[in-house]
Amino acid sequence: MKLLVTGGSGFIGSNFIHYMLEAHPEHTVVNLDLLTYAGNPQNHAHLENNPNYRFVRGDIADAEVVNPLVKATDVVVHFAAESHVDRSILDPENFIRTNIVGTYTLLEAARTYGVKRFHHISTDEVFGALEPDDPPFNEETRYDPKSPYSASKASADHLVRAYAHTYGVPVTLSNCSNNYGPYHFPEKFIPLTITNLLESKKAPIYGDGQQVRDWLHVRDHCMAIDEILQRGRLGHTYCIGGGNQPTNYDIAVRIARTLGKDESWLEPVKDRPGHDRRYAIDFTKMNKDLQWQPTISLDMGLASTIQWYQQHTDWWQKVKSGAYQQYYALQYKQA
Ligand code: NAD
Ligand code: TYD
Repeated sequence: MKLLVTGGSGFIGSNFIHYMLEAHPEHTVVNLDLLTYAGNPQNHAHLENNPNYRFVRGDIADAEVVNPLVKATDVVVHFAAESHVDRSILDPENFIRTNIVGTYTLLEAARTYGVKRFHHISTDEVFGALEPDDPPFNEETRYDPKSPYSASKASADHLVRAYAHTYGVPVTLSNCSNNYGPYHFPEKFIPLTITNLLESKKAPIYGDGQQVRDWLHVRDHCMAIDEILQRGRLGHTYCIGGGNQPTNYDIAVRIARTLGKDESWLEPVKDRPGHDRRYAIDFTKMNKDLQWQPTISLDMGLASTIQWYQQHTDWWQKVKSGAYQQYYALQYKQA
């Protein structure tokens, strides 16, 4: 199978490419990524001599770049997005362009040239926020996005379904909860907390720290997507989650203790505007239809993630200092 992966230089996309090339050595992967601040070729540097892998630096909102790549592929797996809620609050424009116009550009190419499957990666944030006793989100939950990020992802989801309904594009979608694991950009909560504490800096906790996320290890997410690509029913949506409900404060305390530090290293700061209180996913459909369930417990996953950051200081220090961008801007020309 020929896969076109968008956003494969980011956190989940790069983990997905590693996973797929290992699990399916017969597949080929083209990674289309613009290398925004969130894209880091170091995440796939070891694949450069793999004959089954090719990297193209380009914009998913540019039809001239997208069309020939979609024409030459069997399956599109679409991760590329602006993904950080705080950035979407400060400056939503890129979120509209990449998440909505970029998805539209890929869908237009898919309907023009035909693909066997277009799998769209989305988020549980399109469903809005839950109260403490509300049941978790599932495939039937009404959309109610609250941030510019989640609204742009919701728009993309609607476009994907519209292209399936109107033009018969063979799509599947997945809405996943918060991921964590290796190569997670250290502006997000878990890697920021780990790396700040490793640098003996305090870790910022927004508001009262009692917000709840349903954390899933990125490898379990990749395995779920693989199942959907192989056996997911066209036109269907799948909700993917970890079945975890810790508060942010709990997570930060666990990380601090693992690193031999106490709560005094956690610093309450001003809350995020419009901060979603709780997300949770009911993954019954993934389990019933595709026999998928998370395999990595939060305890094990957090421990191995902390260890990964301890062993990859060069990776995150270059990201935090910005050095990774200066170097790669020269090495990789944009298509
Ligand atoms: P990320 O920010 O780490 O990576 C995004 C990648 O997309 C980067 O490599 C970036 O360079 C690339 N990109 C951005 N704009 C582009 C453009 N115009 N053209 C081509 N490439 C572009 O994001 P992530 O955390 O890996 O998330 C990947 C996908 O998964 C996103 O669609 C996100 O909405 C979704 N998702 C993320 C989470 C999570 O917890 N991180 C949870 C559920 C769903
Ligand atoms: P984040 O990793 O940005 O993911 P999302 O907003 O998509 O869920 O944030 C996860 C949670 O951690 C969220 O409730 C906001 C909170 N948070 C902090 O408390 N401190 C921080 O420095 C960051 C980045 C996030």
